[in-house]
Amino acid sequence: MQVDLLAGAGYAAPMLPLRIPTILVFDSGLGGLTVLREVMRQRPDADIVYAADDAAFPYGRLDEPALVARVLVVMERLVARFHPDLVVIACNTASTLVLPALRARFAIPFVGTVPAVKPAAERTRSRLISVLATPGTVARDYTRDLIEHYAAGCEVTLVGASCLAGLAEAALKGEPVDDAQIEAEIAPCFVTRDGRRTDVVTLACTHYPLLLARLQRLAPWPVEWIDPAPAIARRTSQLLGPAQPRPEPVATVAVFTDGSRLSGPAHIALAGFGLARIETEPLPLAI
Ligand code: DGL
Repeated sequence: MQVDLLAGAGYAAPMLPLRIPTILVFDSGLGGLTVLREVMRQRPDADIVYAADDAAFPYGRLDEPALVARVLVVMERLVARFHPDLVVIACNTASTLVLPALRARFAIPFVGTVPAVKPAAERTRSRLISVLATPGTVARDYTRDLIEHYAAGCEVTLVGASCLAGLAEAALKGEPVDDAQIEAEIAPCFVTRDGRRTDVVTLACTHYPLLLARLQRLAPWPVEWIDPAPAIARRTSQLLGPAQPRPEPVATVAVFTDGSRLSGPAHIALAGFGLARIETEPLPLAI
């Protein structure tokens, strides 16, 4: 006789193993760490893979077809290796271009990071806002559309900083970075018009919040700096559903497509973000 144990009267079903989500947080380099830290804060139940395509850093210098092709190739490799339940593209330069291609190629959810133009337009009082981004993000149709849709009543200054992401990485790795270099990159954000002045700057590159304290100190006048990381983490959590309690510690790993430029201080910085295990997935950039 076959007994249906699961349906039997008085039968206490065994605890099903809890589903532990794996979140892949992806950037060209170390900027995505500013998003990772919020994701980890909001989803302490998830296993985390932080992936940096440092072999192709900075993405801001790649033309659009090259960037789409590159991100697809890298993502194929990462998805095959780590089987994430959800991917966060913690990079504005990639998200403003590659999300449609990623969503068409893979069946998993992708959360993007795009310039926080809408919140900036909601918070400004002077109607002068600036978008501080990479040259790539500044040039995107996607960014222009955001401005048209959400900030039509504002004067928006788009600032494509060519060195700031690199300076943020250098600072995180403990290398000296002059104030003057940072000042030169952010200066165009500060605009005056008929007695009004810029009062909100949206940080549209995930690297820039790494320099937040210095940006605040070097600004010619105080402004509100918008970091979209908490909103991205909220969206991520919403898509994953309620967090599950888990007794065992989460697994975290950082994976680099080059990794050769990771100094001792970089390892210490990564450990500070909860990433002590560091691996490479070599994928040289062929251009
Ligand atoms: N962190 C990336 C972003 O949010 C950009 C850095 C790069 O140019 O690779 O746009």
